[in-house]
Amino acid sequence: GRKWIRIGLVNESLKDKTVLVRGRIQTTRPVGKNIGFLVLREQGFTIQCVLTVAENLISRQMVKFATSLSKESHVDVEGIVSVPDAPIKGATQQVELQIRKIYGISKALPMLPINIDDAARSEADIEKAMQSGEKFVHVNQDTRLNFRVLDLRTPANQGIFRIQSQVETAFRNYLLSKDFVGIHTPKLIAGSSEGGNPAFLAQSPQLHKQLSICSDFMGVFEVGPVFRAEDSFTHRHLCEFTGLDVEMEIKEHYFEVMDILDGLFVAIFGSLNENCKKELEAIWEQYPFKPLKYLRKTLRLTFEEGVQILKEAGVEVDPLGDLNTEVERKLGKLVLEKYGTEFYMLHRYPSAVRPFYTMPCYDNPAYSNSFDVFIRGEEIISGGQRVHVPELLRTREEGLGIDQAYIDGFQYGTAPHGGFGAGLERVVMLFCALNNIRKTSLFSRDPHRISP
Ligand code: 4AD
Repeated sequence: GRKWIRIGLVNESLKDKTVLVRGRIQTTRPVGKNIGFLVLREQGFTIQCVLTVAENLISRQMVKFATSLSKESHVDVEGIVSVPDAPIKGATQQVELQIRKIYGISKALPMLPINIDDAARSEADIEKAMQSGEKFVHVNQDTRLNFRVLDLRTPANQGIFRIQSQVETAFRNYLLSKDFVGIHTPKLIAGSSEGGNPAFLAQSPQLHKQLSICSDFMGVFEVGPVFRAEDSFTHRHLCEFTGLDVEMEIKEHYFEVMDILDGLFVAIFGSLNENCKKELEAIWEQYPFKPLKYLRKTLRLTFEEGVQILKEAGVEVDPLGDLNTEVERKLGKLVLEKYGTEFYMLHRYPSAVRPFYTMPCYDNPAYSNSFDVFIRGEEIISGGQRVHVPELLRTREEGLGIDQAYIDGFQYGTAPHGGFGAGLERVVMLFCALNNIRKTSLFSRDPHRISP
């Protein structure tokens, strides 16, 4: 059979060998009537292919045909690997293919709404182009999202979704190694009314991951869709995102949950830094370079300590209220200065700002056994210990319209437990220092977009 090979793997070791590659046309360049150059791209890797008219091998017609193919069309090329004397600009592979055969596989429209080269430009590059008066089309975010299948072809975007996949893999692997069980909770959940039977899209796996603990699973995790009817239009809120959820039994203290979280996220960051070097480089080539600073053992501050740090910097906040986004950012900066980390946990939140299922502190019910976790000053995780005592739960859920079967689940013996939920898109956005969650959602859903 013929030897198919991925473009990213064609290198000097294949010199003089005949290989077969499939790629998209990135650029075409005829040089007179007898020579033509094509750059083919496959998953972010590019290779220069050369057509030279030669008797019985390559006709002028073939050169004309190949160099007039539209950008982004798929072609198969059979060619011989050669190593040029000078370095090759504008391609990732430092070898060329001397084309022997070329087959058109799938044509792209001749006029594309997004030029991939333009979409892949870094800000510095754009700046330079503007200063030199170069003509190019700035690809704005709405255009990118409208034509996402084109936008996703840039090296940075290919990198982002490989990183997302790695986060999910590392999340599962770590928890499986700790004997947690992967579950899938229902995404259609009951409404509260007696009469009709309305169903809701689940706003989180919260209730059913807890019911799993009531069902003798000591630790569970889930990777699945979460729905939020967000009415705000921000850089970090989607109407549908992917939740990374954990729930587990607690023996003595809610710190046990924070211990799992700590080990888990340090493992995820480590696996990204180790396994996704190329992807991170591709992202940071387009967007500013900023590796995440974090400690081997994650910093834990109480909410009160956080309030104190803010106070010392002249920022007054309600000690029993919530922190707004701006204050969270500010605290993130102060923590970085003081402790040298951009990843930390804030725990013992005021009870008043936590959901009904949150366990109040035993020593002071104004505070709760709960926490938020921040990357670069933005929340990526919230969690805590839950109320597992049915009587207490009943007084707390009154009037909220919670499915009574949820409360009932706790009356057959339930261990103390706790857990947390993270948003996959936010983890990737903040780890990579990107400025908008739509960059890390494959096909994002917000109040203004349900298509494509
Ligand atoms: O803070 P949230 O709402 O907490 C829960 O859902 C709890 N059930 C978690 C728990 O186990 N106690 O959401 C958890 C995480 C947030 O920290 C954030 O990363 C992400 O989910 N998130 C969103 N991501 C994208 N778009 C939105 N609209 C999000 N809302 C929350």
